[in-house]
Amino acid sequence: MTRVVVLGGGGRGIGAATARLLAARGDRVIVLDAFDTSDDFYPLADESDRLALQGVPGVETVTVDLREDDETRAAVASVVDRHGHLDAAVAFAGAVTGGRPLWETDDETLRRAISFNTLTTWHLARAAVPQLLTRPATAQPTFVAFTSVAGERGLYGLAPYVVAKHATAGIVRALAADLVGTSVTACGIAPGSTDTTMLRQTAATYGLSDVTELAQGQHGRRPLRPDEVARVVEFALDAGPVVHGSILPADAGFGRV
Ligand SMILES: NC(=O)c1ccc[n+]([C@@H]2O[C@H](COP(=O)([O-])OP(=O)(O)OC[C@H]3O[C@@H](n4cnc5c(N)ncnc54)[C@H](O)[C@@H]3O)[C@@H](O)[C@H]2O)c1
Repeated sequence: MTRVVVLGGGGRGIGAATARLLAARGDRVIVLDAFDTSDDFYPLADESDRLALQGVPGVETVTVDLREDDETRAAVASVVDRHGHLDAAVAFAGAVTGGRPLWETDDETLRRAISFNTLTTWHLARAAVPQLLTRPATAQPTFVAFTSVAGERGLYGLAPYVVAKHATAGIVRALAADLVGTSVTACGIAPGSTDTTMLRQTAATYGLSDVTELAQGQHGRRPLRPDEVARVVEFALDAGPVVHGSILPADAGFGRV
């Protein structure tokens, strides 16, 4: 059966790779992304990213700033109006920032990191979960949030991102607790270094010209490709309640071997 899947922040990178993978298997995929390059905090997906995805059969794009609760609710409601129901939502939206130790990082930088990484996930959960709860357990309704290796441990020079991703992991765990006994599964995915704009931004934060230096602790000593991480999303959406409350590592051993 065709599943209706919303990908928040899926305009580029791991989210766009997931959109292509799920659409190729027959899912109806709706990508919600800001597609806005006007904010200099972090380079978001742009119009060329939107057009590239809009051309993929089975994928549609909607311009939404997931930091805005009302916009997010309206976008998810419109998906349900047009497609009849929602089977899954995945929260990819994020932004990396840092470069200074915690004690030299101001409140505004922390607020913005939480806004891009945590509030976006919170808003998508608030908008999507009531729709997912209307689905029977046989449809395996699922909410997935992207955390990070930085949501499980500290990484030097990335304090605002580390704090925001730990909070995002908190959303997964709180949501999972509230969903026990319902039809809906909630889980997280914590990638390691993956070859996207985010990794290039992280490398720039550290003054590195080559992203492979950020993957020296990973299997193959290379960054993961977005399509490799997308396979873990596919697994999470197919797994059902067995992964409820889990944050699945997708990190090629980063920091663990
Ligand atoms: N790439 C890595 O090495 C890595 C490692 C760990 C975790 N992650 C996480 O994976 C997720 C996907 O990141 P990516 O690597 O594909 O990076 P990316 O920068 O390519 O993708 C982030 C996407 O989120 C969108 N976005 C950001 N703020 C938004 C907002 N307010 N509203 C709507 N869309 C918004 C951007 O436009 C972009 O399309 C992120 O949550 C990131 O923190 C990535």
